[in-house]
Amino acid sequence: MSDARGNRVGDKIALVTGAAMGLGRAIALRLAEEGATLVLADVDASGLAETERQIKSRGWPATAVIADVTEEAPVKALFAAALAAHGKLDILVNDVGGGTSGHVWEAKVEDWDHVIRLNLRSAFLCTREAAAHMRARRSGRIINLSSGAREGTPWTAYYIGNSAYSAAKAGIHGFTRGVALELAESGVTVNAVAPGPIETERTGPGFRQIEQLEYGPIRATPLRRIGVPADVANAVLYLASDEANYITGVTLAVAGGR
Ligand SMILES: NC(=O)c1ccc[n+]([C@@H]2O[C@H](COP(=O)([O-])OP(=O)(O)OC[C@H]3O[C@@H](n4cnc5c(N)ncnc54)[C@H](O)[C@@H]3O)[C@@H](O)[C@H]2O)c1
Repeated sequence: MSDARGNRVGDKIALVTGAAMGLGRAIALRLAEEGATLVLADVDASGLAETERQIKSRGWPATAVIADVTEEAPVKALFAAALAAHGKLDILVNDVGGGTSGHVWEAKVEDWDHVIRLNLRSAFLCTREAAAHMRARRSGRIINLSSGAREGTPWTAYYIGNSAYSAAKAGIHGFTRGVALELAESGVTVNAVAPGPIETERTGPGFRQIEQLEYGPIRATPLRRIGVPADVANAVLYLASDEANYITGVTLAVAGGR
């Protein structure tokens, strides 16, 4: 028995990376709720199986593919599997990202490289596969996850430091602009969403812990609340839908006015 389902991305095939938890899971569920058939990618097999279960339990189609999207071979295999199963790909959401490098004066080179790789190399590798296919079809949507951190984040800077993450998420903005221009004449749009502080399993406890300090995330957010995953998922859905046909190269802040 399938739940009532919207149609804002009906008949679309959508691939979401980082779909095992957090924003990736929320984005996958929201796209499924509006008619998309999901290909879910992550390195976390059990989280991925849970996202797949949540979608399928409502009678909607989804397949899970375990893939490290920072490596070329698994990314090629992931896209080959998606295209073999569905014959096309309409929407790519590059959600994988995160990581911490620490304060710059003591940051380790390997931590810096890890953060850049997790956020930027993953987006490049997945976008390269999607772009070749979407360009040939003259249709498609690519949505990247940037962050409010692309301009620096006060509480992160003060308490843990993470300039590699800021650099990577600013890089996502530039990557989005560049690829949007490259693909514009093929009718493929490329945009980014830049969340502010969003409560997930991973981030929630940390946000609560620092709220009483001088640079608490709620006090630094004009709308005076931490965002919820649905805030981000709705923005991604909008950019993936036909409602956003004339929007490309944009980084949309979903950050409560930050
Ligand atoms: N949560 C926030 O407050 C927030 C704010 C701004 C931006 N973002 C961005 O949104 C995205 C999602 O954030 P989140 O908080 O949901 O992250 P998260 O850490 O909760 O989830 C990330 C997912 O990516 C997966 N993953 C990690 N490395 C991978 C790899 N190499 N290959 C495949 N999968 C891998 C993890 O297993 C996990 O399921 C990230 O790009 C993050 O930088 C999040």
